[in-house]
Amino acid sequence: MNLPDYKEARKREKKDYKVVNYEIDKKLIHKFCGKTYFLKTYGCQMNEHDSENIAAMLESLGFKRVDNYMDADLALLNTCSIRENAHNKAFGMLGRLKHVKENLKKDLVVGICGCMAQESGVVEDILNHYQFVNFVFGTHNINELPQIVFDAMKKEEQIIEVYSKEGDLMEEMPVKRDHPHKAYVNIIYGCDKFCTYCIVPFTRGRERSRRKEDILKEVEDLVKEGYQEVTLLGQNVNAYGKDIYQDYGLGELLEEVSKTNIHRIRFMTSHPWDFSDSMIEKIAKYENIMPHIHLPIQSGSSRILKKMGRRYTKEEYLTLFHKIKKTIPNVSISTDIIVGFPGEEEEDFLETLDICKYCQFDNAFTFIFSKRENTPAAKLKDTTTKEEKEERLQRLNEVVNHYFLENNKKLVGKTVEVLTEGVSNKPGMYYGYTDTNKLINFTGEGIKVGDMIKVEVTDAKTWSLDGCAKVVTKSR
Ligand code: SAH
Ligand code: SF4
Ligand code: F3S
Repeated sequence: MNLPDYKEARKREKKDYKVVNYEIDKKLIHKFCGKTYFLKTYGCQMNEHDSENIAAMLESLGFKRVDNYMDADLALLNTCSIRENAHNKAFGMLGRLKHVKENLKKDLVVGICGCMAQESGVVEDILNHYQFVNFVFGTHNINELPQIVFDAMKKEEQIIEVYSKEGDLMEEMPVKRDHPHKAYVNIIYGCDKFCTYCIVPFTRGRERSRRKEDILKEVEDLVKEGYQEVTLLGQNVNAYGKDIYQDYGLGELLEEVSKTNIHRIRFMTSHPWDFSDSMIEKIAKYENIMPHIHLPIQSGSSRILKKMGRRYTKEEYLTLFHKIKKTIPNVSISTDIIVGFPGEEEEDFLETLDICKYCQFDNAFTFIFSKRENTPAAKLKDTTTKEEKEERLQRLNEVVNHYFLENNKKLVGKTVEVLTEGVSNKPGMYYGYTDTNKLINFTGEGIKVGDMIKVEVTDAKTWSLDGCAKVVTKSR
C-alpha cells in the first residue's frame, strides 16, 4: 500500500527523471474480454485526456465501455479536487455505487483515480469509511492501471497505490480519443506556481516538460490521421521548456507545431507570469495558431493578487492584456475569477468588477473561493459570509455576461471559420467553434462533421452565436 503525503508532494527537487516508454505486460492483454467498464471524468482537460489514456488501457485489457454503471463490471471515477463541489460530486457518485454494490451488483469492482486520490484526507476517508472501494491510484502512476486492475479483479482487500512524488515521464501512452477531429496533446505536466488557494501543485507534482520531438511526432501523427485541431495542454503551458531547455519555450514550440500544418492549434492554460513576447509574436504570425488566449486574472485587486501568490499586479496584468490585444488581430481573451478570497473587502471586489468592465472578456469562468486542505489560503481568516460571496458572484456574473453578449453582437454580419463538431441540439443545425473559441450553431447543406466551414454570423446570444454556412474550406 502506498499512501499520499502532502509534505512529500510539496517538495520540489531538482532530481532528474527518466523518460520511459509505456509498456503493458503482454500477459494482461485481452485478459478481461467480455467484461465492461464505466468511466466518469470530473475536472479539467488534463483529466479528460488522462481518461482517454485510461480508456485505451482498459480496452487493451479487453474491457468494453458502457454508459451506465448498472451494466458495468468495473466502475472507475477519475476525480478532481479543485473545489469542494467537485469533491462532493465524486463522493455523491461513490454513494450511488455503494448502494448498487451492496444491494444489486455485489461483484461490481469500484476504483478511484485522479486528483482526489492524491489527497491524504480523501484516501484516509476511503480506507476508513468506503471499504467497498476496491482500488485507488493517483495521477503519477496511471501507467500502472493494467496491473492494478488485474489485481483488483482478483483480490478481496483494498489496493491503494498512490505516489506523492512524480515518477518517470511516460511516452507512448495508448489513447482512445473522445473526438475524431480534435485532440489534446500534453506538453507539460504539473505546476510550480503554488498560488495560495490552489491544490494542483500538490496533486499534479512539479513542472515537467515533454521533449519537443515527442510532442511534434504526436502532432505529425495526428495530422496524418486526419485531425484538424490540437490543444496543447498544461496547468501552465507558458512554463513549457524551462525545466529541460535553455532557449526553447512555448513560443518556439508553437512555431514548430504550426509548421506541421495542423489546421488549428490551441493551448491552455496560460499563467500571465510567464507570457513572453516571443509567444505573442508567434501567435500573431502563424494563421493556424488560434487567436484565443485563456488568461486567468483571478482578482482585480493587487492586494488580493498578492495574497493569492499570483506574482503580478493589476497593472502588470493590464500591460500584458494591452500588448496581446495590440499585437494579435481579432484576439479573444477569456479568464478565470475567484470571489470571496479570504480578506476580500467590498473595495477589492469593486476593483474586480472595474477590471471586468475595462477588459470586456470574451468569456469568464467565475468561482467562489473554496478552501482546499493543506493550501496556505486555507489558514487565512475568512471574514466574508457565504451570502456575501454568493451575492458578489451574482454581481460579477451580471457584468461579465453583459460583455459576452456585447462582444458576440459585434460579430453579427461577419464571416468566421468553424470546425464542424457535430449535429446541434437545435433541429437542422450543426455546431462548432470559431477560431476565437466561440460556440456557433449553424445551418447548411451537405455538411459533414470534421468540415472546416466559413459561416456567416446571423445572431448573437450570451453564450453562443447563430449562423449559416457559406463555403466548405476543407472537407474530410
Ligand atoms: N493553471 C490555471 C488554473 C487551473 S485551475 C491557471 O493558473 O491559470 C482553474 C481555475 O480554478 C483557476 O484559474 C481558479 O480560478 C479556480 N480555482 C482554483 N483553485 C480554486 C479554489 N480553491 N477555489 C475557487 N476556485 C479555484
Ligand atoms: Fe493552480 Fe496557480 Fe498552478 Fe494555476 S498556476 S494550477 S492556479 S497553482
Ligand atoms: Fe481538477 Fe486536477 Fe484538473 S484538481 S482541475 S482535475 S488538475
